[in-house]
Amino acid sequence: MTDPQILLAERVQQALGTAFGQEYATEDPLIRPSQFADYQANVALSLAKRLRRAPREVAQALADAIDRTDVTVEVSGPGFLNMTLSDAWIAAQSARQAGNERLGVPQGTPKTVVIDYSAPNAAKEMHVGHLRTTIVGDSLARVHEHVGDKVIRQNHLGDWGTPFGMLIEHLLDVGEAEALGRLAAGDGNAFYQEARHKFDNDRTFEERSRSRVPQLQGGDPATLRLWDEFIEYTKRYFNHVYDVLGVTLTDDDIAGESMYNAMLADVCDELERTGVAVISEGALCVFPPGFTGRDDQPLPLIIRKSDGGYGYATTDLAAIRYRVSDLKTDRILYVVGVTQSLHFQMVFAAARMAGWLHDGVSAEHVQIGSVLGSDGKMFKTRSGASVKLTELLDEAVSRAEAVISERYDDPALRKEIARKVGIGGVKYADLSVSHDSEYVFDFDRMLALTGNTGPYLQYATARARSIFRRAEIDPADVSGPILLGEPQERALALHLLGFGAAVEAVAETSEPHRLCNYLFDLAQAFTSFYETCPVLKAEDESVRLSRLSLSALTLKVLLQGLNLLGIEVPERM
Ligand code: ARG
Repeated sequence: MTDPQILLAERVQQALGTAFGQEYATEDPLIRPSQFADYQANVALSLAKRLRRAPREVAQALADAIDRTDVTVEVSGPGFLNMTLSDAWIAAQSARQAGNERLGVPQGTPKTVVIDYSAPNAAKEMHVGHLRTTIVGDSLARVHEHVGDKVIRQNHLGDWGTPFGMLIEHLLDVGEAEALGRLAAGDGNAFYQEARHKFDNDRTFEERSRSRVPQLQGGDPATLRLWDEFIEYTKRYFNHVYDVLGVTLTDDDIAGESMYNAMLADVCDELERTGVAVISEGALCVFPPGFTGRDDQPLPLIIRKSDGGYGYATTDLAAIRYRVSDLKTDRILYVVGVTQSLHFQMVFAAARMAGWLHDGVSAEHVQIGSVLGSDGKMFKTRSGASVKLTELLDEAVSRAEAVISERYDDPALRKEIARKVGIGGVKYADLSVSHDSEYVFDFDRMLALTGNTGPYLQYATARARSIFRRAEIDPADVSGPILLGEPQERALALHLLGFGAAVEAVAETSEPHRLCNYLFDLAQAFTSFYETCPVLKAEDESVRLSRLSLSALTLKVLLQGLNLLGIEVPERM
């Protein structure tokens, strides 16, 4: 099948070539959905200046040159090219989409894509910020896999360094068994805060903690054993959260900071030997060009502190070198908070200077915006502590249960629906805003049955399913010619054809909200269709079959789309 926007783009490009010469045939035709036609092309407006001609004249020349098979074309406004596809073309493409297992999602040339996401700190409890990097990253992993890429998930756990000296000493003070029990129960945040408090207020504790770090980095067996226990317990806790969230990360995807420990000395050596890094005030630093701090002084990326210790940047440089040379990646996506933007810009720049990052590889920071409370500040509990993720997810589920409680008597069924609606609502809220903007965490909005929400989309699938349940037909068995008698049928069929482009756009731009918007518009198109076009009660048998086919196709696209977002769907709602 052909995507309508791609067909129209090709037609306009051909016309550009015919009307103005082949050098214009690769111009972006700027196709957009239109209020007055199916689509409009805006290229005449941008081209007019360069050609020194009136935009309407340019548009008219394109309209005269364009191949009008299955398309009507009209010049409108200041120089838009309005284009409308024939019903016959839409119906034929729709039938092909229904028969296509991939529902029109193309498989591109496979690339290897490393996706660095989730990455909580083993020392602390996971907070809402990590919820968002986890959910966005997981959706990107699913999308890339679906378009045929080889995805390598990398959970860059914060499992190493100074905080562990402090935590191990606190663990010894509290007693090993008790400490580990508390961590397993998800009490990591309080545990961390106690350790921090002692560290800040108790000199001898501070000294003990500091001298623990070289023992850890040097591989002292007793220290490593405690560290290991610590990590095992926190991993178990993270896995529980991933499980509740339905996230695809497993232990095999863990490539935490500790993994790079053995490479750090060599990373520094290589950078120093090649002159990329220099000693400045006792520390080994890279000064990537273009980065300046106060007083326009060059900004250093410190890779070995004056006391010999390595830092976060050293580890990320080791990780880039490893991902490019060992994992042979074509693309690295860092799904990490927007506050780390400068860190990544400098790390990428330093890796380029070292030749580890070259033109064949693209490293991209997928910036994740902060999650705010209703007061517009960072999301915190009333006492000021950061909100515990597991409690938050439990609350989402129990609130969802309250919303649907009147409709389901069977407690097991109700629990199952509430789980999918509650978790799906939270995940969808994370995905449906552009990943770099902030948003306010608001249960009422996330769990609303109307608007651009997870529950609204889940409800649309339940509605489509109910048609087939009532008719006792398996949606997989429906096929028949598509008839587009009513405008709602035409709008639905046309919108369905855009699924492939929406999925491809997510893989290209790392913006899952584009798929959310697409699915939301689809659910709305389906709702208007459902409300105006009787399906099972259609009088004409061929109309009934066509509407069943459109409903089945909508259901499949919604399910596939939600699956790519990582959102589970209840059978009924
Ligand atoms: N653990 C870090 C944090 O919580 C995020 C790590 C992101 N990934 C990376 N390669 N630096 O802030």
